[in-house]
Formats: sequence, structure tokens, C-alpha cells
Amino acid sequence: MIKNIAVIPGDGIGEEVVAQTVRVLDAVGEKFGHKFNYTYLEAGGCAIDSTGKPLPEATLEACKKSDSVLLGAVGGPKWDHIPGIRPEQALLGLRGGLGLFANLRPAIMYDQLKEACPLKESIIEGGLNIMIVRELTGGIYFGKSGRSEDGKTGYDVEEYSFYEIERLLRQAAEIAMKRNKHVTVVDKANILETSRMWRECAGKVFADYPEIRVDFLYVDNASMQLVRNPRQFDVIATSNIFGDILSDEASQITGSIGMLPSASLGEGSFGMYEPVHGSAPDIAGKNIANPLATILSGAMMLRYSFGMQAEADAIEAAVGKALDAGCRTADIAGGVTPIGTKEMGDAVIKFL
Ligand code: IPM
Ligand code: MG
Repeated sequence: MIKNIAVIPGDGIGEEVVAQTVRVLDAVGEKFGHKFNYTYLEAGGCAIDSTGKPLPEATLEACKKSDSVLLGAVGGPKWDHIPGIRPEQALLGLRGGLGLFANLRPAIMYDQLKEACPLKESIIEGGLNIMIVRELTGGIYFGKSGRSEDGKTGYDVEEYSFYEIERLLRQAAEIAMKRNKHVTVVDKANILETSRMWRECAGKVFADYPEIRVDFLYVDNASMQLVRNPRQFDVIATSNIFGDILSDEASQITGSIGMLPSASLGEGSFGMYEPVHGSAPDIAGKNIANPLATILSGAMMLRYSFGMQAEADAIEAAVGKALDAGCRTADIAGGVTPIGTKEMGDAVIKFL
């Protein structure tokens, strides 16, 4: 197969982690007889520097013409003080502009790294594997926002249509069918009207999936349950802002945010793939960042956008073998001598 991938390294460590992922994708392509073509594009702080805009139209247009997008990370202190412009606007522009309404964030605890998990052993006994399905193009992130005329009152509106909720819940249901068939819908239905719509909609959607066990949790309770008993979760389906918050929490209980990939999907097979972590400007350019979250995002791309199951499995297995062999970047070293970003890329390619 020939696939065209738009590559947005972005800022900070983005470039380094993306470079290792491209090497791994090429190695997989060679092994399985695929050709990946890459178009490098700018977005985020680097695009502000070169064009004045976080998301140049040319970048969005080129992404639309590709089969998928691989993104590193955007942002950094250098661009924190420009009035009205932020590198993060590139992310929202890509998500909205590409119609990527479903954000899949697996929180997996690797057995080899369980020392890094901050929870008691008795709580995580048997491992952790949660899939957060976050709505990504609606809610308060995309609602009306502004200030009153006198500037003394501000507002950000949470707004959801049944259509937006339904397509997200269907995506969550499809994913749950391939896992343990359990979905927890997280909301704040004791307070928010939109949350009551999520519950109403869930009743309709899950009627089509009688095998799925569905339950509902208020978001405050869900955030507590995630540290109290995270093993009760399989798939969590939730709104944009709740998913943002819970996915950070979930990433921390695995102990290794440097390991967590994500996929953002729309109606078809097109998707954008990026690590859950940010641009980490403090360690950029030093060859010490962990490329595994981005490499695993590459595996998700193969699985969800290109239907390449065996190829995705091969990357994930190679990452597992690199960890088994004791390969650790600084963030997951826990006492052993760490290897660099590029050396981790080498290890994954070797085990492929
Ligand atoms: C994330 C990030 C983004 C978000 C920011 C950088 C806009 O926190 O992807 O989780 O809030 O969606
Ligand atoms: Mg976030």
C-alpha cells in the first residue's frame, strides 16, 4: 500500500520524537511492503514565527489532502505572551478543521514500568488498560466565548447537539465492542442540561448494543474512582473538557505520560495521531525525550487509518521488547542508566 502522511513536528521535543517515529514507520513499511510518503508542514509556535499564524491555511489544506496526520507537539514559553495568538490554537484549528470529533486516549500501564505507577500495588494488581473516548470538536472548547462590553464579565458556553453526542457515543460503543464491552459515560447530569442530553442520547445509542454494559458517573466521582479503583473502567466516554481533565489524570496513574499515544478520528478513516504529552521545551534538542508515545501513535495510525493490524501489532510488540530488554529514556529510567531519544528509536527498529 502507498499512504501519504502529513507530518507536523511542531515545537519543542516534537521534532525529535516525530523523527524517530518516521524511522520506525519506514522500517515497518519495508518489512511489510508499504510505502509511506511524508509531507512536512508547520503548525504551532514555529508557524507563528514564520507566518504570523499558528495554523497557516496551507498546512490545513495539505492535511486534508493526506491520508492521515502525524503531529509532535506545539507550544512553548516563547509564544506565551503574544496578544490574541497562541500556538495551541493550531490544535483546535486542526481538530475542528479536519472534523476530528473523537479522541481516543488509551491509558495503559506497562508491566515493565509498574514501579512508576504512583498507586498501591493492590489497586493496580492485574494491570490497567482504560480507553478514554473524548469528544473533541464541541462543548466549551468551541462554544461562544467572550467578555461583556465593560470587560468585567467573561463567558465560555458549553453547547452540545444530539448529533454531536450521538456520533461520539457510537464511536465509543464500537470501540467497546472490540474490548471488554463496558462503557462509562462521564458527565455532570446533576447540574448541566447538556449532560442530561448525554444520558438521554446514551439510552438511544446503547439500545443498539445490548451486549455492552453501560453506566454513568458524575465527573467529580469519576475523578475519584480513577485513583480509588481504576480497574473498574474499560471505556470512558465523555465531553471535550471532562475528557481533557480525566485523560491527564489517567495518564498519571499509569506513571508514564511519555508512553501514551492518542488518535483523533472523524467519520472516515482519516485521523490525526499525536502523543498525549506536550512540547517539553525544557528538554528539547537534548536527545533525552521519550519517543515511545509518538511511535505508539504511529501504530494507532496504522491500525485505525490504514487498517494495518499486523503492522500496528508489530510496532507495539517491538516497543514491549525494547522495554523487556531494559531500554529506558530518562523519564522512565527509575534508577537505570537512560538511553537517548534516537537510541530508543534504534531499539524499537532492532526489535521489529
Ligand atoms: C490536550 C491539550 C489541549 C487540550 C490544549 C493544549 C489545547 O491539553 O490535547 O489535552 O486542552 O485539548
Ligand atoms: Mg489536555
